[in-house]
Amino acid sequence: MRNFDETNITEAVLDRVKNAPNPRVREISEALVRHLHAFVREVRPTQTEWEWGIDFLTRTGHMCDDKRQEFILLSDTLGVSMLVDAINHPVPEGATETTVLGPFYVTAAPEKAIGDDISGGMEGDPLLVTGTVSSSDGKPIAGATIEVWHSDNEGYYDVQQLGEIGHLAMRARFHADADGGFRFWSIKPAAYPVPHDGPVGQMLNAQGRHPWRPAHVHFMISAPGYEQLVTHVFVAGDQYLDSDVVFGVKDSLIRDYVRRSPGRAPDGRMLDLPYYHLNYDFGLKPAAKR
Ligand code: BEZ
Ligand code: FE
Repeated sequence: MRNFDETNITEAVLDRVKNAPNPRVREISEALVRHLHAFVREVRPTQTEWEWGIDFLTRTGHMCDDKRQEFILLSDTLGVSMLVDAINHPVPEGATETTVLGPFYVTAAPEKAIGDDISGGMEGDPLLVTGTVSSSDGKPIAGATIEVWHSDNEGYYDVQQLGEIGHLAMRARFHADADGGFRFWSIKPAAYPVPHDGPVGQMLNAQGRHPWRPAHVHFMISAPGYEQLVTHVFVAGDQYLDSDVVFGVKDSLIRDYVRRSPGRAPDGRMLDLPYYHLNYDFGLKPAAKR
């Protein structure tokens, strides 16, 4: 076949991919061609706009290295990451809702004991975090692995300022006690803008959007026989809860970080300054039987 034009090129490309040996590759290729062609038909880009789009994607790729993943940020800020998350994580009654992982997770977080302070000497309002890990049917999960990480009081993660602080901070790995309980001390995190010095920042600006995420603490919780839970707990009252740049906020993940007066905290620690207390009880979804 030849002489392709606007009326017949989509069919021609679909015909060309129909013999893909892997049926899933065929399905994905066909949908890609149909949707991409429909997009181009709707937008009717000029040749210059098409070149701009290619350059945008090229710059997005060039921005990626082992520390920066601009394509994931593009997926996050276009709501694609949360859509993929929603498709893959239906949540049964009693299980905690999921949200995006984000770029600041580190696999080798320091192992800490329950009750430890994980602030790594960072300045900020003391924060006591307590909670439990249970199965969605309410049974405590002893020994569940709880990984946490969060920003400092100016909205920066440790990995964004390793040059200055020289060590990981505000992140740790714990194991729940025999009742599925855990607790630790850190500092209250602040809201922050996602990295916006690259093509994604340029896109947000052109779309009239801000780059901010509401303050939160990240949790990744795993236990044998359960689906790994990737989520955050957001600070109630944050000004960005309804405009999170990556669309990650769900009502069930918002909690009061309750301000407490100086004195003896529930774990016995004496504080001579006010502190904050967050409690969250997590529910894990049993893994699908294979
Ligand atoms: C985060 O919460 O760490 C995050 C998530 C998505 C994009 C950027 C940051
Ligand atoms: Fe974050």
